Amino acid sequence: MTDARFLLACRRQPVDTVPVWIMRQAGRYLPQYRETRARAGDFLSLCKTPDLACEVTLQPIDILKVDAAIIFSDILIPVEAMGLALAFNEGEGPRLQTVRHRDDLASLHIPDPADETGFVLEAIRQVRKNLPPNVPLIGFSGAPFTLASYIVEGGTSRRFRHLLGWLYEDPGGFSDLLNLLADTVIVYLKAQVEAGAQALQLFDTWAGVLSRRLYREMAMPATARIVSALKGTGVPVILYVNGCSPFLEEMAATGADVISVDWRVSLTEAEHRTRGAVALQGNMDPMALYAPTKALRKEAVRVLEQAPSAGHIFNLGHGIQPDAPVEAVQALVEMVHKEGRREP
Ligand code: CP3
Repeated sequence: MTDARFLLACRRQPVDTVPVWIMRQAGRYLPQYRETRARAGDFLSLCKTPDLACEVTLQPIDILKVDAAIIFSDILIPVEAMGLALAFNEGEGPRLQTVRHRDDLASLHIPDPADETGFVLEAIRQVRKNLPPNVPLIGFSGAPFTLASYIVEGGTSRRFRHLLGWLYEDPGGFSDLLNLLADTVIVYLKAQVEAGAQALQLFDTWAGVLSRRLYREMAMPATARIVSALKGTGVPVILYVNGCSPFLEEMAATGADVISVDWRVSLTEAEHRTRGAVALQGNMDPMALYAPTKALRKEAVRVLEQAPSAGHIFNLGHGIQPDAPVEAVQALVEMVHKEGRREP
C-alpha cells in the first residue's frame, strides 16, 4: 500500500491533494465530544480511560474526514506523572502545583511511560486498531519551554511573570528544568511510537513570548535534543510554536521535519526563510471559521496558494475554538481537498 498523503507531505513527497487536519480537532465544538466527556465525568477521567479517549480521537475522522488523527490526551499528563498535582476545574483551565526554584527540582522525577502514563499508550494501541489504514495517528507532547510555563506559573498565563523572572534570574537553574523536561519528553514520545504513533507533534505554544535570542539560547537547545533523540524512530516530527515568525530559522535548525506556522506570517515567507528544507503545516487564522462560506473559501485558497508545491499540510495557525461551527470545519476540509488537488 502507498503511504497516506499526510505522511507523504511530512516528507515533502508528491501527493494527490493537500492533506488537512485541525489542531485540537477532538474537542468541545463537537456535540459528540461533549456527549462522551459527560459520560467520562470530567476531562482528566476522559484522558485516563483508553476506551473513551479512543472514541473521541476517532470522532473527527468520521465527522470531518481529516487526513490524520491525533491521540486524545493533554500536554500536562506527563507533567502530573513527574510528581505535580494537576486539576482541571470547570471553566478555568488547568491548575498545576508549582516549581519556581532550582532547589525544588529534586522533587520531580522522569516518569516511566508504561508504568505512569500507560493509559496513553493503551489508547494509542486501541486507536491504531480502529483507524482506517490510510489515516495515520499523530502522537504528541508539549515542548520543554511550554511545559515549564505551566509548571512555573501553575496554569495558563498572560504575562509569564514567574517564568520569565526565573529565566532572567537563574538561567542555569531554569535550563536544568528544561533539560529534565526534555528527558521526560524523549522517553514519553519514544513509548508513543512503540505503541503505534506514526508522526509526533511538539507543542511549544507559548515560546512565542521569547525574543529570538532567548528562543535560541533557552527553548531551542532542549527541543533540538528531543528531535535528535527521536530521529532513530523514523517517524516525522512536527514542531509548533504560536507566534513563530521571529525564529522560523531556529525552528528549522532543530532538525524537525515539519514546522507548524501560525497565521501572522505567510507560508511563502516561511518557505523562503527555511530554504525549502522542511515541510510546512498551517496556517489559516482559526477565526476565519466564523466567516461566511465564500470568505472562508477565499482564506483557504489564499493559504493553499502561498504554500510550497510539495510538503504542505493544511491546518489552522492555532487550536480550534470551543465554539467553532462544525459545518464550517467540514466545509473547510472539503475545500482543501478540492482546491488543493495536484496535477497527476
Ligand atoms: O488536538 C486534539 O484533538 C488532541 C487533544 C489535545 C488537547 N489538548 C485536549 C484538550 C491536545 C493536542 C492538547 C494540547 C494542549 N493542551 C496545549 C497545546 C496546544 C494549544 O492549544 O496551544 C495546551 C496549551 C494544553 C493545556 C490545556 N488543556 C489548556 C490551557 C486547557 C484549557 C483550555 C481549553 O481549551 O479548555 C486544556 C484542556 C483541554 N485539552 C481540553 C481539550 C479537549 C478542553 C477540556 C474540556 O473538555 O473541557
